[in-house]
Amino acid sequence: RHFQPNQLKNSLSSGFNTHLQKAFSSILIKGGTVVNADHKFRADVIIENGKISEVVRPDDKIQTARNFEKIIDATGKLVMPGGIDPHCHLELPFMGTTAVDDFDIGTKAAVAGGTTSFIDFIIPDSKGLVAGYDDWRQRADKKVHCDYTLHCAITDWNEKISKEMEEIVKRGISSFKLFTAYKGTSFYQNDERMLQIFQRCKELGAVIMVHAENGELIEFNQNRLVKQGVTGPEGHPLSRSDEIEAEATHRVITIANTINVPLYVVHVMKRAAADEIIRAKRKGFVVYAEALAAGLGVDGRNYWDEDWDKAAGFVMSPCIDEDPKTKEYEMRLLATHDLDTTATDNCTFSKQQKRMGHSCFNKIPNGCNGIEDRMSVIWNNGVEKGVLTPSDFVRVTSTNTAKIFNMYPRKGIIQSGSDADIIIFDTEATKTISAHTHHHAGDFNIFEGMKVKGLTETTLVGGRVVFEDGVVKSQPGSGQYVPREAYGYAYEKIPALDAQRRLRETPVDRSGNKPSQKSLED
Ligand code: URP
Ligand code: ZN
Ligand code: ZN
Ligand code: ZN
Repeated sequence: RHFQPNQLKNSLSSGFNTHLQKAFSSILIKGGTVVNADHKFRADVIIENGKISEVVRPDDKIQTARNFEKIIDATGKLVMPGGIDPHCHLELPFMGTTAVDDFDIGTKAAVAGGTTSFIDFIIPDSKGLVAGYDDWRQRADKKVHCDYTLHCAITDWNEKISKEMEEIVKRGISSFKLFTAYKGTSFYQNDERMLQIFQRCKELGAVIMVHAENGELIEFNQNRLVKQGVTGPEGHPLSRSDEIEAEATHRVITIANTINVPLYVVHVMKRAAADEIIRAKRKGFVVYAEALAAGLGVDGRNYWDEDWDKAAGFVMSPCIDEDPKTKEYEMRLLATHDLDTTATDNCTFSKQQKRMGHSCFNKIPNGCNGIEDRMSVIWNNGVEKGVLTPSDFVRVTSTNTAKIFNMYPRKGIIQSGSDADIIIFDTEATKTISAHTHHHAGDFNIFEGMKVKGLTETTLVGGRVVFEDGVVKSQPGSGQYVPREAYGYAYEKIPALDAQRRLRETPVDRSGNKPSQKSLED
């Protein structure tokens, strides 16, 4: 369980070896339109040994003369970087139970929907961060059908944790997450600790991530509502006003800016919280923010459904906004770069598990699905409705996450040298989302009955065809852990901003000995 000096080296260099064994040694994807975050163009894509080796003009005669082990006809289809989901909790032990989508089933659902990488969270217990890392790697490595990497949550704060953060960075994890919600649990962190943890992240070159809701006020509201006899799932949104999310968002932005450390706000669900992100970006702060498929696809009126199981199925934190217009508002903010990424926070529980909160809404395990449907929900509500361009779609489902979490250009782009994590996307295909047909383990789907246009037809991870003809074809454990170095893209502006601040933060000389204005001008 102790850190071996060669451990990181091994994980850094293990890159493509496993892919190589299972991948076709060469694949040609021909006749499609390649979509990257900057532009789209007609091109054929050649894959060799798990990587994209060439992106060539479609009329290039050279490749037709070559022998490929597999040829995929993408005529009339889009060829895009596979989705990267920056926020998932597979098989997470949480609120007295464990999320049912494990690393096997959850990643089958991912590849079936066109997601080729995801980022899960180590949620350490009292054994510490490195033990948590070992635990997550040991459970995930043997099960994943796609590539993955990890963020690490800080759920307590002391000298040992501060030291261990460095060990975690050495293992390729350059992002740490805090919670200002879940008061009364070890997740909850106060401002004083946040300030210290943010400073430590900056020393290590890591991105700080925050689940921003005012946990103190949520607890107060929960108690008040229960006294009033509100114990059903509607108590969940009633205990979490717009301001409760917006205030915490404003606060963590203020703390991050005081330290000048890159901040990533996870799951922005309320318009008032999104407006705090806009304000911070306009001020030039290094702040990134994430929308969820849940918030872009459905609304929180469901909490008032008379069917308890259905209402409880939507319980996640922050809650999904009740206002049906918020979906479109957030989609527009993705188009304008005010929100940066789209995630799922996939953390699923069966109806039976949700019933743990039958006596009171604050005991309903928090979490919803999304990892399978994110890409189609966003294409349908974004591109089909004319809010996003296809390139915007790639930017918000893949490229921005690869950049912010330092996996770019290995991930997030179709270009020579990148991992062959590719989807062939049919913009005309439709389906009606349902728990009866989804790949998830759970018996509930928040998008139940939603008809989406735009589906992933084929998914490749590291050059392996993992989803084709409606069937997941990969083996558990075929995905790779992707280590990520510190001081990446998110840190590019930080040194200049620090220098600007130092320049301004100089004392005024009032000694009377300063050179006169005249001599300065000379
Ligand atoms: O309700 C949610 N989001 N469950 C997962 C844990 C978290 O807060 O991200
Ligand atoms: Zn959260
Ligand atoms: Zn504010
Ligand atoms: Zn989460």
